[in-house]
Amino acid sequence: MILSRNIRKSFGKHQILKGIDLHIGKGRIFGLAGRSGAGKSTFLRCINGIEPYDDGSLQVAGVELATLRDRQLRSFRKSIGMVFQQFSLLERLTVFENVALPMKCWNYDNRTIRTRVDELLGLVGLSAKRSQKPWELSGGQKQRVAIARALSLTPEILLCDEATSALDPKTAQEILLLLKGINLQLGITIVMVTHQMSVLTGICDEMAIMEGGRVDCQGAVETIFRQQPKALRNLLGSSRASAESSDVTTTVFLVDKSDVVARMVFDLDVMLHISKVPVSGAGLLVNVPADRFDEVTRYLDQRQVNWYPEEAPDPSPAASRFDRAEPEMLDQCINR
Ligand SMILES: Nc1ncnc2c1ncn2[C@@H]1O[C@H](COP(=O)(O)OP(=O)(O)OP(=O)(O)O)[C@@H](O)[C@H]1O
Ligand SMILES: [Mg+2]
Repeated sequence: MILSRNIRKSFGKHQILKGIDLHIGKGRIFGLAGRSGAGKSTFLRCINGIEPYDDGSLQVAGVELATLRDRQLRSFRKSIGMVFQQFSLLERLTVFENVALPMKCWNYDNRTIRTRVDELLGLVGLSAKRSQKPWELSGGQKQRVAIARALSLTPEILLCDEATSALDPKTAQEILLLLKGINLQLGITIVMVTHQMSVLTGICDEMAIMEGGRVDCQGAVETIFRQQPKALRNLLGSSRASAESSDVTTTVFLVDKSDVVARMVFDLDVMLHISKVPVSGAGLLVNVPADRFDEVTRYLDQRQVNWYPEEAPDPSPAASRFDRAEPEMLDQCINR
């Protein structure tokens, strides 16, 4: 979906991107980490065509960006949604109008806009807030509006630049879960730029760490956290990462096909050990086939995981339906 080869970018005399090589597969949730100033946001802006690069090849959804002329680039940018740390909502517009804005700009007719916005507000669990103004919303709700707006032109890729950094840990988890649900339901490729280890271990399949204008390591999140390469140790050692890792817990849903079979809250250090568990992903949604459930829960019990409800639930009868289409359902899982 995104193939970057030797991307270079300078601002004046300062070369910020010194040859970025990255491959991000379709339908993935890809985490891009790195210290402040590493060039993460600059690279995201290259991906969505806002920032021209000086050298290299960048193919996004099969298109070589450097070949696009202005109008083609504008049209290409419809296929990419963007979400920022500071929400970037227009304060004078209602929730509905904020989400509708990109479609208005592209002259969609009012009926299409109404249908699409209703659908998106349902998806992000904000149907009841459609007439509110941003100042009447919590941070998490504002970010839900921003996510709905980013999805309004049905993009293939969602770029999230520190989308959870301004939120408290619980709200951040809810937003991560929403993004995971959107990824599962719509098959959208998501790139998460983040300083937060919990974002990487929570929902990303693969990750890369940028250092000094280059990609220092790239691979499956489980593998990188298990192997702890120098780039990760550097990042964990930096004050922002370590301050956070000490008190962060991660909610994990064990999912068998589409059923949530258990919910647990992990300390981050336990989360880092989950890579020893033979599961197909570590994070908010851990897919565990029913025949391996015992094996996994036994392992997790040994790790003194806090179970909700108190004892490990019987996977089959107690399983609650996990409807990919319903973020409200996900909310209920969190608040249960
Ligand atoms: N438009 C610009 N003009 C000049 N320099 C810029 C511009 N945009 C970014 N830079 C510089 O490029 C470097 C990388 O910035 P960038 O915002 O990409 O880093 P980042 O990895 O996203 O950092 P953070 O984690 O703090 O958001 C910084 O030194 C920044 O000052
Ligand atoms: Mg940045």
